[in-house]
Amino acid sequence: MHANQAQLLTDKIEKIVPRSERMSLTRKIQRINQLKQERNAVILVHNYQMPKIFHTVSDIVGDSLALAREAEKVDADVIVMAGVHFMAETAKLLNPNKTVLIPDTEAGCSLAESITPQDVLTLRNKYPGVPVITYVNTSAAVKAVSDICCTSGNAKKVVEALGVPRVIMIPDEYLAQNIAQQTNVEILTWKGHCQVHELIAPEDVEQMRQDHPNAAILAHPECPPEVTAAADFSGSTAEMSDFMDQKRAQNVILLTECSMSDNLAINHPDINFIRLCNLCPHMQRITIDNILDALENNRYEVNVDPSIAEPARLSIKRMLEI
Ligand code: 13P
Ligand code: SF4
Repeated sequence: MHANQAQLLTDKIEKIVPRSERMSLTRKIQRINQLKQERNAVILVHNYQMPKIFHTVSDIVGDSLALAREAEKVDADVIVMAGVHFMAETAKLLNPNKTVLIPDTEAGCSLAESITPQDVLTLRNKYPGVPVITYVNTSAAVKAVSDICCTSGNAKKVVEALGVPRVIMIPDEYLAQNIAQQTNVEILTWKGHCQVHELIAPEDVEQMRQDHPNAAILAHPECPPEVTAAADFSGSTAEMSDFMDQKRAQNVILLTECSMSDNLAINHPDINFIRLCNLCPHMQRITIDNILDALENNRYEVNVDPSIAEPARLSIKRMLEI
């Protein structure tokens, strides 16, 4: 990439990143793009990454479902996941022969932390024959003892595709409760929560309505059901993005990680985003510097124990087939 192309990319984020920082950012972006070419690498970027990553070095951007789908198709030797660890593991499971890198191994997830494979086996013993649907926000070891995965973008479809009256959906209690309201299938769940979305309360929605009566309020399904009920729309980060593409409102409040609003605001200067500030500390661990370091020094490589890789992959593949 030429210097002026990198400059164009950093201009995209000029309202957010000060000019002094953009100069060094441009140099780093140039180096990252050079390394991408040398190593035949791609960078997959989740919607919650900061604009200075999302709008500059990404090859593919999207929600968890899109990143899983793209990871399956990607034609590269190296995949850098600008997201959290379970996303990198998913990419590795779908690309066992490629090098998958996560720029910071501490980029975890409170949902993935909330459940162990043993917890799933205990649930299976308690409810024999009831299929286990695991949210992708789990470890490969948990996926390996589950029947199928889902994301917030396809959870209802997955629940209904199984054709059974009762399912176990782990580990996000709120996602399960939100989906239960949209289907006749009985959903048993777990007590895991996203540490970002669980902090949003129905009183906050009420207050926002009073303060911004003309704004459409969109809530992620990881929010408590009282919050999604009080919002105007609930959907995954990709569904929120589609809502903006369809220009369904001029003023919006997104009840989700706030980098999402920052990223969309750049693509939709005609929409007024009323920003909240709920940052995911795990997503925020990824920076331009550690992406550069990942490509330069091949770190940190993500591998999955071969004893769990096959059944974990099967859970993801079953989801992708739906
Ligand atoms: P989606 O991007 O699938 O909506 O998920 C949100 C999330 O919290 C990912 O960690
Ligand atoms: Fe996990 Fe929530 Fe952060 Fe997503 S936003 S990675 S669900 S803690």
